[in-house]
Amino acid sequence: MTKKIAILTSGGDAPGMNACIRAIVLVCERSGFDVFGYKRGYNGLLKQEYTKLCAAKVHNLAQRGGTILHSARCLEFKEDVSGQQAADNLQALGIDTLFVIGGDGSFRGAQHLGRFWDGQIIGLPGTIDNDIAGTDATIGYFTAIETAVESVDKVRDTADAFERIFLVEVMGRHAGFLGLNGALASAADYVILPELFENEDSTLGDILDQLGERREQRGDVSYIIILAENVWPAGIADLAEKIEARTKTEVRPVILGHVQRGGSPVSQDRLLALKLGAYAATLVGKPVTGVMIGEQNGQAVAVPLSSTWATNKPLDTLSVETMRLLMNNRYA
Ligand code: F6P
Repeated sequence: MTKKIAILTSGGDAPGMNACIRAIVLVCERSGFDVFGYKRGYNGLLKQEYTKLCAAKVHNLAQRGGTILHSARCLEFKEDVSGQQAADNLQALGIDTLFVIGGDGSFRGAQHLGRFWDGQIIGLPGTIDNDIAGTDATIGYFTAIETAVESVDKVRDTADAFERIFLVEVMGRHAGFLGLNGALASAADYVILPELFENEDSTLGDILDQLGERREQRGDVSYIIILAENVWPAGIADLAEKIEARTKTEVRPVILGHVQRGGSPVSQDRLLALKLGAYAATLVGKPVTGVMIGEQNGQAVAVPLSSTWATNKPLDTLSVETMRLLMNNRYA
């Protein structure tokens, strides 16, 4: 009997999710499977809202940001009654394999579903935060870095013109990958990351010391600080006020926000999405379930879903080392 496959995208959308959908659809169609896409993440699964997918529907899709299936966060999916409802709906549609493209919240949902449904569940890492263990990178992360870098380049022009201090907040939820690599690639002067943050006093003291030294050497110059979201307890405006009060220099806060989630995926994200999606589609019907497909050192790997959030993925050592060599931070 023909296999039936379903795909959903869930949580924060990420550039490259569409490319991943395309790869799954093309490989599955070639194998003769029927493919369905649930709308709005787990919400669509709970309401049995789906659309039929085929090669024609994924034409010209690899370069498009967002997700044609739409995404959502679905807090009620933690409940048992939701897990059972989803299982009933998958059963009713005759689905054999469900692909979940998303981040750790989406994978927790997939794990929860596995308690109620014995079909095959395969996760694919799609989030700009790159905070998923078991894969070197996540789909969307590279585009988000690119967007952050382009934005900081623009901020730098006006910062230079006014010799001002700018604080630029980047996303990342509770992970510093975007902050660290965005700061390095945009040649920012200082970066504040959740993984390395000790406390407000030491960070503020360090910034003021570094800034003082810089100004002694070069006079009044612009200074760009990248701040990862959720790190500074009272928020970016509070830090801006504190630096302004202590330096008597104008400080402007900029929150990049959801701009980082949009845009056409850069080639690294397209490639990652296509490779992971195509490989995952070859696993349909094989005795592997409850896993995420990731890429490690150029190889596709299948890791248990629970391991993707069980450990905190460490920041890339070489980037941290480079930050210490090139930037002002005195993170020990
Ligand atoms: O997980 C992706 C992400 O963009 C995080 O970086 C950010 O903290 C969060 O989603 C924002 O979520 P929302 O779009 O629900 O405000």
